Parts: sequence; structure tokens; C-alpha cells
Amino acid sequence: MKTAGGSDAAKRRAGERAADEVADGFVVGLGTGSTTAYAIEALGRAVDDGLEIRGIPTSFQSRRLALEVGIPLTTLDAVEGIDLAIDGADQVADDPATDGYGALIKGGGAAHTREKLVDATADRFVVVADPSKLAPTLERSVPIEVIPDAHTVVADRVRDVGGEPTLREAEGKDGPVVTDNGNLVLDCAFGSIDDPEALATRLSRLPGVVEHGLFVGLADATYVGTDDGVEVRD
Ligand code: 5RP
Repeated sequence: MKTAGGSDAAKRRAGERAADEVADGFVVGLGTGSTTAYAIEALGRAVDDGLEIRGIPTSFQSRRLALEVGIPLTTLDAVEGIDLAIDGADQVADDPATDGYGALIKGGGAAHTREKLVDATADRFVVVADPSKLAPTLERSVPIEVIPDAHTVVADRVRDVGGEPTLREAEGKDGPVVTDNGNLVLDCAFGSIDDPEALATRLSRLPGVVEHGLFVGLADATYVGTDDGVEVRD
């Protein structure tokens, strides 16, 4: 998992701070990305020191890292719930004066479908981020996972609602990114997203859409790593 911008030290601080919240017996949702990777590594060290937890990964990458660092894994259908989910974000709406405060854009790693399932199931969902992820209003492209047959139809519907879709291509390969679920991703530019909840509702209604990367009203807190500490937004 390689860093996509932002300082590694800030990401590490945020990730390790979130891992500190994990207690004995917890079922932990393990998000995807370079910031969450620091949390997973910290949890691996805590497990070595005797912490007893079970992790539920949100992607092939987080599963592989969790196995590497020795976190026992389980699945959603084998547990009664998730105590805490720790996950990164591509952008966090950070203006408390707006309705969208705390909304997220996720899916830079094409893992947002499982991430949303796990993050929304958790009793508590903590976002880990560095300051480069904060914005007054969400404006990054919104990833939309679509079943392969639907990608041109969904692209047309996205244009109808004012977006500009681009099929995500796999770097260094002649073909599209394929998600862990065997689907494709449309990155959809909407400009400034003043009402993330309304857009989320519209996108969820489109046939062929598996899941979109707008996470509205899901995060309980955001831990922002800085040069010398961690700022908590809740
Ligand atoms: C993956 C995600 C990631 O959490 C998001 O891309 C942030 O990653 P990073 O911590 O590497 O910046 O949503 O689908």
C-alpha cells in the first residue's frame, strides 16, 4: 500500500492513535490504504504483546497486511457486530458550518463497497487522515463501483445528474481496474459537492451501481495526524 500524498509521519500518528482505542476482545474493522496500514501494523504489535482481537479486513490488501502482522481474522457473518472500524479517506468535509460536515469521499483504493459495509456496521467508526485530506467542501471525483455490464449505462446516468465519469484504468496494464468483487470503477467528477447526502441518494438509486464512495453520516470521529500530534474532530 503506497502513500498517495500527505506526510507519512502524519499518517502514522493518526493510524497509531486510532489503534490505541482498540481493547481486549474487540472485533475491529480494518480499512484500506496507507494511513490505515499504520493502524494495522500497530495492532499487529499489540497482538504480539498479548492483545486479543479479531479483525475484519475490507480488501485483499488489508487482509494480506493483517495476516503478515499476525492479526487473527474473522468474517462479518461469524460475529455479532464490530466494536470499532478504522479507515482512511480520500477527502473529508471539514467545515462545521455546513450540512456535509464529516462526510467523506472514499474508494481511492477501489475498496469502498466493503469499506462502507464494515464501517457502517461498526459501533464506532474512526477515520484516519493527514491534513491534505481536509477540505471545506467535497470536490474530488466520487468512485462508483459498477457491475461490468452496467458501466456505459451508469456513465450516461451520471452525466444526466451533472457528473463526468471516467472508467478507472489499471496502472501499467492494458485494461480497467477490477475490484475485489469483480466489478469496475467509474471516477465521477461533480465539481463542488454542496449537498453530499442528496448526491449519495441519487447515485444509490442508479441500477447497476454496486456502491459509491460518498460516506455521509457514518464517521464518528476523524483523527488528523499533524507534524507534532493528532487533532480529533467529532
Ligand atoms: C480505499 C480508500 C482509502 O481509505 C483512501 O484511498 C485513503 O487512502 P490513503 O490512506 O492511502 O490515503 O478509501 O478505497
